Amino acid sequence: MSQIMNKYVDIFNDSLDRTFFDQVVNTKLEESMKYSLSAGGKRIRPVLLLMTLSMLHTDLKKGIETAKALEMIHTYSLIHDDLPAMDNDDYRRGLQTNHKVYGEAIAILAGDALLTKAFELITKDANIEAEDKIKLIRLLSESSGHQGMVGGQVLDMDSEDKEITLDTLRKIHRYKTGALIRFSVVAACTIAKANSKTFLLLDAFSQELGMIFQIKDDLLDIEGDFDKIGKAVGSDEINNKSTYISILGKVNTKIALEQHVNQALYLLDQLDEKYQTEELKSLTKLFASRDK
Ligand code: IPE
Ligand code: IPE
Ligand code: MG
Ligand code: MG
Ligand code: MG
Repeated sequence: MSQIMNKYVDIFNDSLDRTFFDQVVNTKLEESMKYSLSAGGKRIRPVLLLMTLSMLHTDLKKGIETAKALEMIHTYSLIHDDLPAMDNDDYRRGLQTNHKVYGEAIAILAGDALLTKAFELITKDANIEAEDKIKLIRLLSESSGHQGMVGGQVLDMDSEDKEITLDTLRKIHRYKTGALIRFSVVAACTIAKANSKTFLLLDAFSQELGMIFQIKDDLLDIEGDFDKIGKAVGSDEINNKSTYISILGKVNTKIALEQHVNQALYLLDQLDEKYQTEELKSLTKLFASRDK
């Protein structure tokens, strides 16, 4: 997606290839898991985790397995999000959606297996202490489940075909998208054993990032280019989704986006001077200006 992400994307993809794809893919299930994982996702969550670790002067090795776990859960959420029972989409990451290729049953089970694999990877991580693994597993399960991403997906579906308030929409964004983006940052803080001031500032920063990312996703659903975003344009309108644009209109949505960017940058400026915030600042701006 951009120069600043490349280094981290390469480290991440290298490691993902080595751990998971070295095994012989001998079942339809594994093939379908691999299909979606390697379809060309932007990897923004693993990058955010590794970039935050780097800023906190911590060895990236300590975050790789957790980053993989996170990307597996994110990928499962997309496979399920695209199912006919949910958003009913045919394209994802520039390819046909998982259920279009492997059928609904395997797509559902690939999602289940990716979710489970995530926790397997963290428990087997040789680079972090047992105590940290427990903290990460707790955070990741909270961020993914009914108090996190899955809870947000239900709120999102409940808001189809009806008018909702901006507050409700903000809550949907906070859970369905914000929770896993927040995990990227707080996981890094946990691994780096950040002090409470740093933790609180970065936690607040990550919540701004989550809003930025989903507001931009809603905009791209209207103004994006299929060849770049790799998924259908106009899916939200077809499904009668409540989005920032359906509630506020495009102009006010872009103003809101800018406000979240400013707040995110402001929070980074409050960190101790020993932390170099340039990369995270560039990533924040990229979240708002991306075309895919
Ligand atoms: C899409 O996430 C779903 C949202 C939470 C908005 P991404 O835009 O990060 O999707 P990939 O991983 O690059 O395919
Ligand atoms: C999806 O939001 C969020 C999750 C998958 C958790 P969207 O439904 O807007 O994501 P896209 O646009 O299909 O990627
Ligand atoms: Mg959806
Ligand atoms: Mg969708
Ligand atoms: Mg969307």
